[in-house]
Amino acid sequence: MKVMENGLKDIFKDSFLTGAAVSRAILEQEAADETITRHFSSLTAENAMKFSLLQPQENIFDWNEADFIANYARRKNIKMRGHTIIWHNQTPEWLFLEGGNKVSKTTLFKRLENHIDKVSARYNDIVYAWDVLNEAIDTDSSDFCADNYFRNSEWFKTGGREIFEFAFKCMREASPKAKLFYNDYNNESGAKLDSTLRFLSSMLDAGVPIDGVGIQGHWYYNFPDEKTLRHAIESYSALGLEIEFTEVDISAYRWDEAKESADFFPAMPNERFLEQQQRFIEIFKIASEYKSVKNITTWGIADNYTWLGNFPVKNRKNWPLLFDEQYREKPAVTELCASL
Ligand code: XIL
Repeated sequence: MKVMENGLKDIFKDSFLTGAAVSRAILEQEAADETITRHFSSLTAENAMKFSLLQPQENIFDWNEADFIANYARRKNIKMRGHTIIWHNQTPEWLFLEGGNKVSKTTLFKRLENHIDKVSARYNDIVYAWDVLNEAIDTDSSDFCADNYFRNSEWFKTGGREIFEFAFKCMREASPKAKLFYNDYNNESGAKLDSTLRFLSSMLDAGVPIDGVGIQGHWYYNFPDEKTLRHAIESYSALGLEIEFTEVDISAYRWDEAKESADFFPAMPNERFLEQQQRFIEIFKIASEYKSVKNITTWGIADNYTWLGNFPVKNRKNWPLLFDEQYREKPAVTELCASL
């Protein structure tokens, strides 16, 4: 009989869930199935639960891929993160139109409520945490809104901050057992951390049911350092929020290398690889020191497929995950699994 050695999910079972983002195509790979079985206790649909995928036309739902993933998770007794309800990307065109004009505020609220009701009724049993709101703050944009750097999305233009509050309240009613999250990138430091803290504490003061903050964690081989990470965790914890690292990948490139197309690496340079492994080890170890951290999810499983292969530069190979292209564990996994 094959004895299963401890995987990440076992090592960290008293601290947090360990997860990965998946699609149907990935779940159909045998090696992915084996890796999930051994290492992961949480799954997120990489795309299948986004608005335009679930409700491509008004009141016509396409549950196919989301059901496939949810059923896999049910069979395996793995929890799911629900990703996502309000986001400026991957929304269907009909959502912001009404009779050929811009949708009215009242209609948009109704459509949102209907979407939340249908989606939560279907996945209530398996989704333990919802990213109710994703990437609503944009500190880089020149046309940021009002006092809190709100992104000038179609949602915000029509519904204002009110629609964000409404979304959390609706979701709480529809999925009373689920933890409700605000999820974003770059929110571990700088202006984005400050804006997010202000936003979340004012939402909490107003009685909006928010349980936690998702730190996406689209990071680089040389970022973040330990101090940054601890400061972010401690700042959010001080508001009484839970923290989940929801979309971790550690790019072989820095952000400022995004446009240097002549210098793409044929393979990950060893020095960067070693730093990346150090980053991964540090993230898991630091997170395990804080009770408020409840999940570490990577945005994919193995380097054979990552969205970073097309972002922010098209067709640029990247190696940002915990397992290599053959699903072999990288040194960070080996070291973490030997750490107990
Ligand atoms: C990405 C997916 O990985 C891609 O397949 C898709 O084309 C675009 O969206 N922040 C998020 C995720 O919250 O939903 C995004 O996922 C990555 C950035």
